[in-house]
Amino acid sequence: MMPLTLQRIPAFTMSLFCRCSSNIFQRHCSRMLSKKVRVADALSSKETGSNIRIQGWVRSVRPQKDNLFLHVNDGSSLQPLQVVASSQLNTRDLTFGCAVDITGTLEKSPNKRQNVELYAQHIKVVGECNPVDFPFKIKERHSLEYVRQFPHLRCRTNAFSSLLRIRSEATTAIQSFFRDNGYVQIHTPIITSNDCEGAGELFQVEPAGHTNDLDDPNPHFFSVPAYLTVSGQLHLEVMAGAFSAVYTFGPTFRAENSQSRRHLAEFYMVEAEIAFTESLDDLMKVMEDLFKATTEHVLSCCADDVELFHKYIEPGHRDQVDLMLKRKFNVISYTEAIDILKSSSQNFTFSTEWGCDLQTEHEKFLVKHCGNVPVFVINYPYELKPFYARDNQDQPNHTAAAVDLLVPGVGELCGGSLREERLELLRQRLAGAGLEDAYGWYMQLREFGSVPHGGFGMGFERYLQCILGLHNIKDAIPFARFSRSCLL
Ligand code: 4AD
Ligand code: MG
Repeated sequence: MMPLTLQRIPAFTMSLFCRCSSNIFQRHCSRMLSKKVRVADALSSKETGSNIRIQGWVRSVRPQKDNLFLHVNDGSSLQPLQVVASSQLNTRDLTFGCAVDITGTLEKSPNKRQNVELYAQHIKVVGECNPVDFPFKIKERHSLEYVRQFPHLRCRTNAFSSLLRIRSEATTAIQSFFRDNGYVQIHTPIITSNDCEGAGELFQVEPAGHTNDLDDPNPHFFSVPAYLTVSGQLHLEVMAGAFSAVYTFGPTFRAENSQSRRHLAEFYMVEAEIAFTESLDDLMKVMEDLFKATTEHVLSCCADDVELFHKYIEPGHRDQVDLMLKRKFNVISYTEAIDILKSSSQNFTFSTEWGCDLQTEHEKFLVKHCGNVPVFVINYPYELKPFYARDNQDQPNHTAAAVDLLVPGVGELCGGSLREERLELLRQRLAGAGLEDAYGWYMQLREFGSVPHGGFGMGFERYLQCILGLHNIKDAIPFARFSRSCLL
C-alpha cells in the first residue's frame, strides 16, 4: 500500500482536515496521515519536508526558553532522533524514559551532529516514567554490572541495546554462512535422554509436582529419564548421515555450578556436523571461516553499535579484532601445548602434566604465547574426550582426533572432533562405559552406510564476548541463567 504523506493525500481529505476546528480531530488526522517510520530510517532519510510519525522512548529532554529538544530512540539504532518542539508542547509527564508518539516534519538539521531532525507538531506521552524511581538516570553512564541488576529494564540502556542488535545481526550472519555453504539447518531436540558430553551436567525434565515413586513401574514422564540437551551433536550425526552437511543453532543447557565469567546454565550453541570428513584440517577451516565471516558481517552492519564497545567498554579492542581477522589462526598439538606451559615461568594453579585437562589459565596463556591470535589445540588425550571422539590409535601418548579453538580474552570458544565411525572401536568404548544399551541406535548409524565425519560446537555468547571485549558472559545474553540467579 502506498504510504500516506501530506503531499499525497486527496484534496477532499486535505480540505476536510484544514477546515476542521477541533484540535483532537486535527491531531488524529495528523497521526493518520503521517507515515510511521523507524528512527533508523528517519535518520538516513533523504526525504526532508515530509510528515512522519515516530514512536519510541525519550532518552533526553532539554527545555529551553522557546524550544524543547528531545532525543527519542525506538531500538532501531544507537543514535536517537532529535525532536524540536515549541516549548508550549512541553508537559510535566514528558520525562526521561517515557514512551511517546510524535508527528511532525522531518527537516535537514542545522547542527552537524545529525543530518535531520523532527519538527514536532504533536507529542503524545503514551506511557509515563517517573524519573526519580526509574533506575537509570539521564546523562549518566551506568556500568554493565549496575544495569545487570535490572534484567527487565536493561534493554533500555545504550550498551545493552547495542549488544542485542549485534547479537541479532550475528545470528543472521551465522545462518547465512551455513546456508551459503550448502548446510541444512536441523532443529535438534531440547529434551533428550542422552548426556552427549558425559560430564553429568544435566538438568532433569519431569512434569511439575512429579515425585519419584519407586513402586511405580515407570516413574518417568517419558520411558526413560529425560534431560535438557547439553549438545545437539548426536542428533546432528543422525542427520549428517543423510544430508552431508548440517547445523543447528539453539539453546543448550549445562548444570554447571559455576559462578565464572564464561559459563551459563542456558546458552546458545552453533553446531555443525559434516559427513565425508577425514581430517581435523577440514573442520578447522569451517570454524575459522565461520568466525571471520560472521565478524566481518557484524563489523560492517553494526558499525556504531560495535564502536560503542570498542570505545567505551573495552577501549582498544578493535585492534585485537582486526588482528584476529587478518591473521591465519595457529595450530598446535595438545602435547606441544603442554610443553609450552611446562617451559613457561608462570606459576599455574592447575597441573600442567600430560593427561590433564587444559584450564582457563592455561588457555589464556597459550593464546598470549601465540601473539593473541586464536589457536587450535588438536589431538587431546584419549581419556579426556567423550566416547564419540575418534581414536588416533597412537603410542605412547594415546590421543583422540579432537580440537578446541582458543581465543583471546575468553579461552575455549569451540570444541569439536572427528567422530569414531568404526563400529567395533565404538562398541568397545561404549561397553567400557556401560553405555552399550543406551546407545544401540547410535551404533546402528555405523552399521548402515557409515562414513568418516566430524563436527564442532561454538558457544555463541563466548563469541560475542570475544569480538566485543566483554568480560562477563552475563552481558552477552538477553536474560542470563546461571546457578543461584533470579529468573523472570
Ligand atoms: O566443548 P563443548 O562441550 O562441545 C560440545 O558440546 C560438542 N558436543 C560440540 C560438537 O562437537 N557439536 O561445547 C562447545 C562450546 C564450548 O567451546 C563453549 O564455547 C560453549 O560451547 N560452552 C558454553 N558456553 C557458555 N556456558 C557454558 N556453560 C558452556 N559450556 C560450553
Ligand atoms: Mg569443550
